[in-house]
Amino acid sequence: MSLDIKTLVQKYNTPLYVYDFNNIASRYKELKESFEGKKSLVAYAVKSNSNLAVIKHLAKLGAGADCVSIGEVKRALKAGVKKYKIIFSGVGKLDSEIREALEKDILLLNLESEAEMKRVEMIAKELQVEARISIRVNPNVDPKTHPYISTGLHENKFGVSIDSAKRMYIYAKKSKYLNPIGIHFHIGSQLTELSPIREACEIVADLVRSLKAIDIDIKFFDIGGGLGVVYNEEETIDPKEYALNILQSIKGLDLTIVMEPGRYIMANAGIFLTRVLYEKRNGNKRFVIVDGAMNDLLRPSLYNAYHKIEAVQKDGEKSSADVVGPVCESGDFLGKSVPLPPLEHNDILVVHSAGAYGFTMSSNYNTRGRVAEVAILDGKDYLIRERESFEDQIRLEEACDTSWQ
Ligand code: LLP
Repeated sequence: MSLDIKTLVQKYNTPLYVYDFNNIASRYKELKESFEGKKSLVAYAVKSNSNLAVIKHLAKLGAGADCVSIGEVKRALKAGVKKYKIIFSGVGKLDSEIREALEKDILLLNLESEAEMKRVEMIAKELQVEARISIRVNPNVDPKTHPYISTGLHENKFGVSIDSAKRMYIYAKKSKYLNPIGIHFHIGSQLTELSPIREACEIVADLVRSLKAIDIDIKFFDIGGGLGVVYNEEETIDPKEYALNILQSIKGLDLTIVMEPGRYIMANAGIFLTRVLYEKRNGNKRFVIVDGAMNDLLRPSLYNAYHKIEAVQKDGEKSSADVVGPVCESGDFLGKSVPLPPLEHNDILVVHSAGAYGFTMSSNYNTRGRVAEVAILDGKDYLIRERESFEDQIRLEEACDTSWQ
């Protein structure tokens, strides 16, 4: 993104998330076009960045939404995603969420256990509707990614085994209130190798074939999200290769491919801008203390994730520094051993690849307000979320009666 960062910072202050909306569109289109000529739905994983303006931008391009709470479903609807393009997944849906999702008549509910299926059936019966469902299969393949974002092994909490999935489909087929139209898997996030995806596709496609043989006709083949991106110098998966492999594994089946990309669309469309407060040394160690912290961008602290960090318009000999925030935790860092030139108060650092799982994982820890978010479209900047004030933060506490104290 060719941005005048200094102007943005003057206008919106720091810390700040900035997203390149042109980049978001081109990533969406690239993926969609890889499946050209085939029936496909790109259901954007709202959890990666749920700003309404981001969802609206994707909805206008024709994207659907993959949601994991009724809140996300409501965001998607509010942002203009068509109800028949919305999927509701998640291992622990509340009764109230199931009810609302059925009432809103979204494309399907993705089920993750037999017990959940029974609850959905019961609620559908209460409402006298037929619930369109898919079942999340855990294909037990190793996605070769960080253990915290690996989901497709039996040791992970997600999905059901092939055998239980089969039993569930047979049950659902017989039920008056369930309509099994889809199958789903998602083996992990930040996948940089194609072979585990291919392997999972083949396992799940075989299940689709065996279901077809007993007259259970699956229409939606949901391959989840997980496409990796370049944070550092990773080799990533080419979307055309991705599409080719998936289509080969479902050969002969008439299916709509559903994808649930989050990171692929958002990660490198976003940056996080933070301001240098101080430099200090503890012994030989150099620290650059900035105004952004783990509550704003948790990935480095939580996963030891790498985000490239650069100083804006600053020359000088670089030396290694830890970039740390003001939060009272040793784990509060944005980068370790980052090569940086000498820095002064108010210099700006750009933290790259911060568009996915950045803002959405932020919190108010240390009573720090959530930061502002800005969109850049065709060279113009637009505020898409205001900076949270102290008053915003205490509003729900102040709303309570405190006369008992
Ligand atoms: N579909 C399902 C069922 C998922 O669980 C996820 C992510 C996605 C799609 C989207 O995955 P993506 O395309 O973005 O890789 N907070 C972590 C990532 C957690 C991912 C959780 N599930 C991070 O910052 O790396």
